[in-house]
Amino acid sequence: MYNTLRNSLFPIKNILFLVVFAIPYTVFAKEGMWLPPTLKSRQADMKASGLQIPINKIYNNQGTGLNNAVVLFGRGCTGEVISSKGLVLTNHHCGYGSVQGLSNAAHDYFADGFWAMSQHEEIPCPGLTVTFIRRMENVTAKILKGLPDTLHNAQRDSTIAARIAALEKMYKQTSKLDASIKPYYYGNQYWVSLTETFRDIRLVGFPPNAIGYFGGDVENWVWPRHTGDFSIFRVYADSNNKPADYSKNNKAYTPKDFFVINAHGYKEGDFAMVYGFPGTTEEYISSPELNHIFSISDPIRIDARTKKLEVWDKHMNGSRDVFLKYTSKRAGVANGWKKWQGELRGLKINGVIQKKEIYENAFQNWAIKNNTLPYAASLLPQIKNNCAAADSIILLDEYTRETVLGVELIQQSAYLEKFLPCFRAGLSQAALHDTLQKLAAGLKPFFKNYDAATDKDIFQNLVPMFFKECSASLPLYYQKCFAKYDSSYASWADAVYKNSLIANEDKLLAFADTASAADSTYLLSDPGLKLYAAINELRKQKITPALVAYYKQKNYLDRLYMKSQMQQDAHRAFYPDANLTLRLTYGKVQGMDPDGPEPYSFQTSLDDVIAHEDPNVDVFKVPAKLKELYNSKDYGRWAVNGTVPLAFIASTHTSGGNSGSPVLNAKGQLIGTNFDRPWEGTMSDLYYDPNLCRNISLDIRYTLFIVEKFAGAGCLLDEMKIVK
Ligand code: ARG
Ligand code: GLU
Repeated sequence: MYNTLRNSLFPIKNILFLVVFAIPYTVFAKEGMWLPPTLKSRQADMKASGLQIPINKIYNNQGTGLNNAVVLFGRGCTGEVISSKGLVLTNHHCGYGSVQGLSNAAHDYFADGFWAMSQHEEIPCPGLTVTFIRRMENVTAKILKGLPDTLHNAQRDSTIAARIAALEKMYKQTSKLDASIKPYYYGNQYWVSLTETFRDIRLVGFPPNAIGYFGGDVENWVWPRHTGDFSIFRVYADSNNKPADYSKNNKAYTPKDFFVINAHGYKEGDFAMVYGFPGTTEEYISSPELNHIFSISDPIRIDARTKKLEVWDKHMNGSRDVFLKYTSKRAGVANGWKKWQGELRGLKINGVIQKKEIYENAFQNWAIKNNTLPYAASLLPQIKNNCAAADSIILLDEYTRETVLGVELIQQSAYLEKFLPCFRAGLSQAALHDTLQKLAAGLKPFFKNYDAATDKDIFQNLVPMFFKECSASLPLYYQKCFAKYDSSYASWADAVYKNSLIANEDKLLAFADTASAADSTYLLSDPGLKLYAAINELRKQKITPALVAYYKQKNYLDRLYMKSQMQQDAHRAFYPDANLTLRLTYGKVQGMDPDGPEPYSFQTSLDDVIAHEDPNVDVFKVPAKLKELYNSKDYGRWAVNGTVPLAFIASTHTSGGNSGSPVLNAKGQLIGTNFDRPWEGTMSDLYYDPNLCRNISLDIRYTLFIVEKFAGAGCLLDEMKIVK
């Protein structure tokens, strides 16, 4: 039904359009990532949508809100505190890096999972942190005081930077917390987050990949979903319950608050909210800026990565060794590749560029008549010019990064540059030998996951793409090589991979072992280093200066455009774009109807896992123990209609960084853990369509079922407060 409404609105081009267009924001969509201290302005809508607790339970200035149970997990995920003893729940894919650090052949936690049966067995995770947000305050007046909007950028920026530094220092002294001030609304507002970061974090529970990564990349960004994407950690503190480095004397942290778990479940249409740290969205940019993403960046990245994945898959399928070396790299490359395809599709079927143009026409009409912001009418034409002037450089930048620098040998040759200074330093032979040994050892992690034959195939596929698409900007060295090898990429690649130290670890180690001061010339003639140096020069001379100029102007104009949009439509509830600070978003548990044969249901279950089992495909293997539980229907208190609910979707507006976020019911009780979005709706980072945008959450009952029945770690449940 909403589709029809949108289509009928589409041709209306006058100011009335805005009045009508405002309806979806307030009535239908649950678009928005709200700053906790501003939630009062959403109270009426949240209550009308079903919220049953006062806003000040979610966040308040006295420091007793539920924000004290939400953490920034590591540097890019979210987690939630679920016991009075500092237990933190997050995603499996958020704990993955830490667990990789703890795993080895003797302890393969990816294959076997890990469960601490007592606090003694919990394993410290070096480098892992969790951060609580204790308070947020609007400091705009202090940061922007006396600074005219149109003040020259450099002068304005340096004043602001100095004020931020001084104010953060003041907050740290007075609050005894960490303080971080960030811009919101493209620099029209500034807020301080007062935070506390804990540094002794220990692994408690990690399901094997056959549960926590079930479906692998095949199911990534996909609904319906069957991944038990969770892991459990514990925060430790010193004897005063304060953050401390790891020590065996530290104690489990007593949090200010933790989430009550609701095991009663939910039904379609129920209110749901997600509390966490969305990373980046760009909802208010203009059509030419969106067009850079739509017509240049996304298509180039997809194109180059399609090739890359094709080549990698061929080699990975042919060799288990290559598979193991590339599986993690592949996941990273494929994550963006798949997301951007969904994003492009969503932008296209929604006609988002055209919608923005209609909006901009109305804005322009307003700006011409408006006399409070005299600069408003000149903004869109300036943005358009700035964008047009940057088209070719953005294209060149994207191709350079995705093709030439997408060749591992070229990218990694940057490291060879580090070898050069020690040849010039006049070191004794012994000192040179020692330095070279250390430098060579630094490449060990790279070689561990590198296959030169695979990468050579990448060279032969991606370098031609660079030649074809960037013919006017090819570095001279590239042109010369191409001519030297009779325009044969294959012969060129043969020579590069035969001679570069980066293509051959033994050769590199031998070089590091025997090189004398005179051998710098040998290094300088390394084809990998020469390829890297030529591209680096192109970036330094041509790409970076142009991009810096573009972004300086873009940031300036975006700030004024955002301010003008907010002034033009004072009734619209503008939420600030995501910037990895604490936000609350709310909506409803809700299925969806993409243009496939059937609408998607709002929920999956353990039965669907069994239905997707494929013993021949790694990511679809079901652990024997889970099958036993399924066969005997041994679900204990987690049984619902003869199965265990697994994942669900809701219309809450989330983004990358929200992984691991608590999903809460109308009472603020935990019903799930956010972990993904269906790819039909990934354009929600740029445009939120209530028909297609959903977040995917793991049902807390599946998590508890796995912990209790699969892992036999029911002792953890004793710490939790579970209500039915
Ligand atoms: N799409 C998720 C996110 O953006 C990643 C989920 C990890 N799982 C996977 N199968 N790659 O981070
Ligand atoms: N998987 C994402 C993350 O790691 C969350 C999914 C999304 O982008 O919505 O943050």
